[in-house]
Amino acid sequence: MRIGMIGAGGMAKALAGKWVDKHDVMLSGRNAPKTADAAASVGVSAGTAREAAAFGEVIILATRYEDVFDAIDQAGGPDAFAGKVVVDINNPVSVESFLTTRDDGRSLTQAIAEALPDAQVGKAFNMAQVAVWQDPEMSYDGRRMVTLYTADDAADSTIGALIADVGAEPLRLGGNEHAYQLEAAAAIVIKFLFAGADPHTIFNFIRPETKPVR
Ligand SMILES: NC(=O)c1ccc[n+]([C@@H]2O[C@H](COP(=O)([O-])OP(=O)(O)OC[C@H]3O[C@@H](n4cnc5c(N)ncnc54)[C@H](OP(=O)(O)O)[C@@H]3O)[C@@H](O)[C@H]2O)c1
Repeated sequence: MRIGMIGAGGMAKALAGKWVDKHDVMLSGRNAPKTADAAASVGVSAGTAREAAAFGEVIILATRYEDVFDAIDQAGGPDAFAGKVVVDINNPVSVESFLTTRDDGRSLTQAIAEALPDAQVGKAFNMAQVAVWQDPEMSYDGRRMVTLYTADDAADSTIGALIADVGAEPLRLGGNEHAYQLEAAAAIVIKFLFAGADPHTIFNFIRPETKPVR
């Protein structure tokens, strides 16, 4: 698949580094030299947000959460995302209160889906620190790390495959009406990370039938 990433920071690089062998990936940022360096560090191409949105069959929104809607505008607005799978990885979480910043009980993912009515939106990759996504093993206590995600039906198989391609086990929580639960769960992880927990601290979803890592 062609994957356009809006962002070229820690998460964009970590995920691109996992996908580079199987997919064509472009990172994007506002600072061209910085973006080029980031892309070169993981062996993918670099561009602007507009170029990444045009390039991708899948678009990963990987700016800071405060910048998501500006970045969507700079990428070309809703038309630039029409017909594409869009993955929201962002955590709208205050690092003072460790609560989500959404005060209407709905998620950032749903707000993005409303702003991009012709895109197929889902949420994934938000519940673990960047060090986890860089980890070549993705194995915890001999079990493959489970990655919860939300997606409406049209995006489900694509997002599940992208999670499998980073070496994790995809587990769909439901449609995007559940995305606020992933954002709130991330707030719990972030609180403990800020308190000094190991960066590899995760929630894992352990089921007896989960196959051991080979
Ligand atoms: N870090 C983590 O451990 C972690 C884990 C899970 C989820 N997340 C979520 O993932 C998101 C990204 O986190 P991060 O740590 O990767 O952030 P980061 O390192 O600060 O990177 C943000 C990137 O966004 C780019 N950017 C900002 N505005 C842009 C725009 N309008 N167009 C294109 N690029 C733009 C920045 O590049 P320029 O400055 O060059 O524009 C930068 O490369 C956050 O929302 C966070 O909540 C983070």
